Amino acid sequence: RLESTLRPQMLTDYIGQSKVKDNLKVYIEAAKQRKESLDHVLFFGPPGLGKTTLAGIIANEMGVNMKVTSGPAIEKPGEMAAILNNLQEGDVLFVDEIHRLNRQVEELLYPAMEDYVIDIVIGKGASAKSIRIDLPKFTLVGATTRAGMLTPPLRDRFGVVNRMDFYTVEELKQIIMRSAQVIQVEIDEEGAIELARRSRGTPRLANRLLKRVRDFAQVKYDGRITKEVAGFALDLLEVDKLGLDHIDREILVTMIEKFSGGPVGIEAVATTIGEDVGTIEEVYEPYLVQNGLILRTPRGRVASELAYRHIGL
Ligand code: ADE
Repeated sequence: RLESTLRPQMLTDYIGQSKVKDNLKVYIEAAKQRKESLDHVLFFGPPGLGKTTLAGIIANEMGVNMKVTSGPAIEKPGEMAAILNNLQEGDVLFVDEIHRLNRQVEELLYPAMEDYVIDIVIGKGASAKSIRIDLPKFTLVGATTRAGMLTPPLRDRFGVVNRMDFYTVEELKQIIMRSAQVIQVEIDEEGAIELARRSRGTPRLANRLLKRVRDFAQVKYDGRITKEVAGFALDLLEVDKLGLDHIDREILVTMIEKFSGGPVGIEAVATTIGEDVGTIEEVYEPYLVQNGLILRTPRGRVASELAYRHIGL
């Protein structure tokens, strides 16, 4: 699939997150030298910043297989036990949305992560017996949008914890140029910068917008993505000059028009626009805060002067 070829396969091809990358490089090299499995790794941060991609890179660099699952997909401890039991020595198990594992499944993970064993209860009532099963030494790579939602016992069992940051315009530009080569569309530097500026600091969005802009370039222009083509297409896609989408703008407009610009609690904003509080906190707010559109104060969120200007009020 195209999605998978747009993803870099090795650390050297991965653009951005340089701190995460530099550290992982050392841990991977050290584990390989010792012929050990890599310690468990946690990635946290907003969606679309490359957590799954890095999990895949870890597996590739270690020369092992990766199994992929997610918190909500595993309903029973037995399902997790089966997955763990089928891993091979050194394999990576990637668990997306790991904060959404239920308690029983999570508790099965504690001894699995710490000692590579699981305890399974066989039978019921007085005749119930617990048997211990040895697992291959594996690497759990967990991803979550909310590190604060992880229970301390689970969080503490990760030897490596990485926070993912939004990408700079320059990094996104490089990613877009690389992706344009992969999907074979011509793009000039200004076109790539315009796309990068309006991609919300997020490679997944940059790649998605690149494909949509390519469609406009092909049908309405001569196939080449320039600043003009990118601007035309992104305006039609309702992605504004700062890369905000209609929900981002709705949040700002609500704060300004319904709550006099704040201070206002995020719950009140969420209720007013009919969005989930968690989604606003994890997906929308981080970018708005990072770009100085929303200020967090002890009494609540405040729309900044920049927000007023950007919304045009
Ligand atoms: N494609 C998506 N994310 C990427 C990244 N961080 N580096 C290179 N290519 C990418």
